[in-house]
Amino acid sequence: MDIFEARESAVRSYCRTWPTVFGRAAGSRLYNEQGRGYLDFFAGAGALNYGHNNPMLKSALLRYLADDGVIHSLDMYTAAKREFLTLFDELILRPRQLDYRVQFPGPGGANAVEAALKLVRKATGRTEIITFTNSFHGMTLGALAVTGSGFHRAGAGIPLSHATPVPFGKSLDSDGQIPDFQWLERLLGDDGSGLDSPAAAIVETVQGEGGINVASAEWLRRLSGLCREHGMLLIIDDVQMGCGRTGPFFSFEPSGITPDIVCLSKSISGYGLPLALTLIRPDLDIWAPGEHNGTFRGVNPALVTGSAALRAYWSDDSLERGTLAKGERIMEAVTATADSVPGVPIQVRGRGMACGLAFGDGDVAGKVSAAAFEGGLLAETAGSRGQVVKLLPPLTVSDAELEEGLSLLDEAIRAVC
Ligand SMILES: Cc1ncc(COP(=O)(O)O)c(C=O)c1O
Repeated sequence: MDIFEARESAVRSYCRTWPTVFGRAAGSRLYNEQGRGYLDFFAGAGALNYGHNNPMLKSALLRYLADDGVIHSLDMYTAAKREFLTLFDELILRPRQLDYRVQFPGPGGANAVEAALKLVRKATGRTEIITFTNSFHGMTLGALAVTGSGFHRAGAGIPLSHATPVPFGKSLDSDGQIPDFQWLERLLGDDGSGLDSPAAAIVETVQGEGGINVASAEWLRRLSGLCREHGMLLIIDDVQMGCGRTGPFFSFEPSGITPDIVCLSKSISGYGLPLALTLIRPDLDIWAPGEHNGTFRGVNPALVTGSAALRAYWSDDSLERGTLAKGERIMEAVTATADSVPGVPIQVRGRGMACGLAFGDGDVAGKVSAAAFEGGLLAETAGSRGQVVKLLPPLTVSDAELEEGLSLLDEAIRAVC
């Protein structure tokens, strides 16, 4: 590992949590160079919902490469993009009665967020954005301005402005004594509050990096209502929780809201290849041609695997049903583990196959993650103090692998606690 330590920037981080050199990966497992397998309940931070090197996606990609399909094309028309848009329209948007224009903003989630923020400001002529405590939207300066983490914000080196944070979900008052949105309603309803009329609110339905904090459907509906009342647009950042992570394709579906803009990335290519989408309510698609561009948008191999993933997993509801069933099993198992270490309070939360175990402090959660790694399980920590052990198994994990991972986690928690 010397070359990494000598040459790679100090900014590297996941390799510090999992200090081994990985050589290959298949399904729910990563293998290091010595051939030791690790069950991957990290899944590329949500970029590998269909597992590593998924054979259905791989064969589509290999065929495309063998046929000299176009790899790079900026935003020119290609057959690969046409197929992706057609399938996205037929399998995702129409069955859900959603009507969005699809923008390819650049390769990663932060690109999707930057495009959304620019567009809501352009469309409303306003500058302020309502953000939520413990949110995470990416590392570029615009996305960072709407991100909660003090550690990451400090890295900006310049003031991050035009964003007003308000409490996420029940975070102001977990006992239910203070009505949700009391703070935001006061700000919006009072001409003397000092808050300029916001262009939009940006929110994750389940905060991933923030520690698997789940907003209720009712909370999301109320937020959506407030946005309409005050002429604000609603951006749902589904970069981590979209593509089936919580069960349905979009995480906001059960709440019945229709966001004005949706950000997708991570698992949209299905194969871990870089791809991001900003979905735009058609009348808001007021970009001038080329006004937001970039060299790597709509990378064709990612569109090919994205199309294969839509075909394989979203032609019917079997993946969604499987995710909900496995999610219930995860909740049941981790709740039993949490209850079995009574001296250490562990709060369990999640939706679908996104699950968090919140410990009192980051030290304990970090030790659990390290012990899990020793046992052969990758599970990262999240939350403002790294206090949450976060589970994001591939949605395609088998029942046997799921049980294996859950018992490795149980052992790690018992060893530490
Ligand atoms: C909700 C959310 N939005 C945006 C991003 C940024 O995505 P990327 O790291 O691809 O820029 C992330 C990354 O974790 C995320 O979880």
